[in-house]
Amino acid sequence: MTRHHRSETTRSLISSAATLAFTGCILIGSPLRAQKFEPNYDEALVPKYELPPIVDAATAEEHDFNAAWGKRRKELLRLFGEQMYGSQPTTSFQVSCQKIESGKSAGGKALRQQFRQTISTDSGEHSIDLLVFTPQDASGPVPCFLGLNFYGNHTVAPDQEIEITQSWCRNSEDKGVKDNRATEAGRGTSSSRWPVELIVDAGFGVATVYCGDIDPDRHDEFQDGVHALFPEHRPSQEHPDRWGTISAWAWGLSRALDCIQQEVAEVDGNRVVVVGHSRLGKTALWTGATDTRFAAAISNDSGCGGAALSRRAIGETVGRINTVFPHWFCPNFKQYNENENALPIDQHQLVALLAPRPVYVASASEDLWADPRGEFLSAKLGSSIYVQLGTMGLALEEFPQPDTASVGRVSYHLRKGKHDINAWDWGHYIEFMKQL
Ligand code: GCU
Repeated sequence: MTRHHRSETTRSLISSAATLAFTGCILIGSPLRAQKFEPNYDEALVPKYELPPIVDAATAEEHDFNAAWGKRRKELLRLFGEQMYGSQPTTSFQVSCQKIESGKSAGGKALRQQFRQTISTDSGEHSIDLLVFTPQDASGPVPCFLGLNFYGNHTVAPDQEIEITQSWCRNSEDKGVKDNRATEAGRGTSSSRWPVELIVDAGFGVATVYCGDIDPDRHDEFQDGVHALFPEHRPSQEHPDRWGTISAWAWGLSRALDCIQQEVAEVDGNRVVVVGHSRLGKTALWTGATDTRFAAAISNDSGCGGAALSRRAIGETVGRINTVFPHWFCPNFKQYNENENALPIDQHQLVALLAPRPVYVASASEDLWADPRGEFLSAKLGSSIYVQLGTMGLALEEFPQPDTASVGRVSYHLRKGKHDINAWDWGHYIEFMKQL
């Protein structure tokens, strides 16, 4: 069998598997395995795998399917928490949210508001800044995107009034970060990723928090950020199922939603959509899964640990991500390095945890590290639960050509180009938002 022939066969197996999604599906690939941590980009070398079912056949037949799904959903959420992202603390905390600044932005089209949230526990206090843009001329509360940013709120718009974060940042000349401190030079340097004008022109709001304000993106044995507020809940050898950084970021997004719901009258707190790119796209899915107050979730180029199926082990793998970013997931997840078939879960089930709320998975055609095809398969397989719940699944049947978007209750697009989030992506997210 030629390589071309083999991959076509694999492809048709995958698409028939997609229609049979709720029983576990067996996909055939080569038994060969890429060498340790050497990325594989060859479809023909995707290992043999069997995906865990979203619901088993007996559950699918249950008379009261909604109730049966509710039970199964809880079980899946527990497994993702214990085995992958890590559980969030359940002990009490206090939170206050104060407006610290407001004014006009985006050439007068947007109202800019900044809030400082202070979270306190017996172990200390921690502050997180939230930046919100809403249309200046809105006649009532608007639906709003909420997402984390990589280098500070001041990077999302060339706006002199935005507070510069005091938190640790990864050094970057392009983003104006020196000695791990953000500077004036960073203003607006990520604005191509945050098209505020496009969003407010469409009648929506957009809010953001710097991920490092919640938990700096570095491995420090979970000492800093919000981990410091809950020292009794740190991951350890005895407790390998506790929150890593992605789970901490998700928890922080839930706090930002608290603040929006309580203090931001211009936003409709029941129509806040969590969005994120890359590591922050992994976070968006986990946030939407853990906090059902979010009306929908959008994951842009989220890859391994996000929308991409772990078992395909193509591009970035579980072993590789756990080695390079040992703090993102909980310690339990490391058991699955080079051992994805032992995972009790896979990422199509994470997409399913959003159901029946709208969910959007997006990929970029040249972003092979994030495995676009694996991201599509998760969306397609995960969408089966939407159909079973009586709503619409993903309309696309096959992995599409670049620059194809299918926007609906379960959405997917493949943008032509590199790993990034840009106005083309946002244009489709705006369309998606209109169903809320
Ligand atoms: C790295 C990492 C990815 C991640 C990406 C990002 O490439 O391997 O998992 O998604 O960084 O967040 O930009």
